Amino acid sequence: MIAKLIQKNSPLNQSDKINQLLVILPKQDKLLGKNLNQCSFYGKDTLEALLLRRKMKSVEICGDPVSANLENGSLCAWVMVDLKEPVFEQQACIRKALKLLLDEGPKVLQISIYGNAKEKRKLAELAVFVTWVNGAMLPSRKTNKKKPFRNELAKIILHGYKDASGFTLLRSKAEGNILSRELTVLPPNELTPDLYCSRIKKLAKSEGWKYEKYDLKKLRKMGAGAFVAVAQGSDSEDAGIVHLQRRVKGSDKTVALVGKGICFDTGGHNLKPARYMYGMHEDMNGSAVALGLFLAASRANLDVNIDCWLAIAQNHIGPRAYKQNDVVTALNGDTIEIINTDAEGRMVLADTLSLATKKNPDVMIDFATLTGTMWVALGSRYSGVFSNSDNLTKQAVDSGKLCGERVSAFPMDLDYKIALKSTIADIKQCSMEPEADHILAALFLSRFVGKTPWVHMDLSASRNTGGLGAVGSDVTGFGVGWGLQMIQTILKNR
Ligand code: BES
Ligand code: ZN
Ligand code: ZN
Repeated sequence: MIAKLIQKNSPLNQSDKINQLLVILPKQDKLLGKNLNQCSFYGKDTLEALLLRRKMKSVEICGDPVSANLENGSLCAWVMVDLKEPVFEQQACIRKALKLLLDEGPKVLQISIYGNAKEKRKLAELAVFVTWVNGAMLPSRKTNKKKPFRNELAKIILHGYKDASGFTLLRSKAEGNILSRELTVLPPNELTPDLYCSRIKKLAKSEGWKYEKYDLKKLRKMGAGAFVAVAQGSDSEDAGIVHLQRRVKGSDKTVALVGKGICFDTGGHNLKPARYMYGMHEDMNGSAVALGLFLAASRANLDVNIDCWLAIAQNHIGPRAYKQNDVVTALNGDTIEIINTDAEGRMVLADTLSLATKKNPDVMIDFATLTGTMWVALGSRYSGVFSNSDNLTKQAVDSGKLCGERVSAFPMDLDYKIALKSTIADIKQCSMEPEADHILAALFLSRFVGKTPWVHMDLSASRNTGGLGAVGSDVTGFGVGWGLQMIQTILKNR
């Protein structure tokens, strides 16, 4: 459960007794320099003494927030945010300050905001979002619940700013991000395709979405040979494509969200070595992001119809598993020559994109932990995007800057495709050579989207040790915030 937010218009009084308090100050000229004389805020004397002791200038608490115990027994953290810096930096800076307090495991956290009206709004929005996202506890199977000690944050008391809308959009964004991370960290024996689908079905029921599962029997009958090739390696016949639908009366825009949901990627017959197979329960992150975004957009009441398509399967080794040199026929009729069974993501996505395309959405966005080469190219602080529309590419990059989930655009020029030329089938699944596989994978997928305006996100930032931007856990939920911003941008420009 996400923490309850209580808003108080008035600033906090120095005499008010509190346990954990986050003080957020805007970086502004009058706060620059050696002393903080011109303004007043909670715990100012203690902060000044601390800065003096550590020979720090006040501006240094911009990137390096500090905390101290006050005489009245409370723990106070102070942070200064430069609203001219990139949103990513602002979020990271607040997250660092918040961590100093959350490490004590409070159930209630107080936040006090200072600055002029505009600054207060921006700072409050940042602070509340970052606190919601990090106050939630991810699933843990430790039997000793006290170690590491941490309570789930139940209540946020915000002082100095009141927002009439009650932060609905930010709450939805946080809920979507948390859902995507919760699902992603679950161990693979707790999130088999069958268990995953049951969870989604339950959520769909409580949120009022239409739920439909294209199971293997149906997919075989339809001729979704690319999806089935991957799914047939599992004994349990529980793989399938889940379709969720949200319709808004009067809305003239429909967005399709697609996600790679490989609940475990062994690599198949081209088996991954232990070092690389470890962590492959997170290979369903793309589907969790699509689902989290779907939840966020629904709860935020965005004026948009959404179809969400989740390609849920496992990539296993076994007597029936697909193998190199197999030729399979995809749902759109194209024949695909299998080169490497570890390139299973593009296989399950091919047919899922074909299905989604049939409904003629205005825009289609897919999310996938698709290639190791994207991670080699970008590391895990950015994700890469591809699009068949220059306009969407620009909107994607701009959305990344606006929400703090940063993306870089990659090329998809057709001459790269020569590496996917097959002598026996219409296309090779991938190349035997490792170069630019993220580009080849995107080009492969582009075959299945027709003329639909489309963005493909290769989620190199799904996991970043120590957290990323607003999020403090290793699994980041990257893509939910970006997607929400992207949909808002698309709606604004219609
Ligand atoms: N799920 C992996 C990609 C991946 C690896 C994501 C590590 C995140 C972390 C994907 O299914 C895969 O194995 N891709 C292969 C493709 C290759 C065989 C062409 C890869 O990147 O090695
Ligand atoms: Zn793989
Ligand atoms: Zn994979």
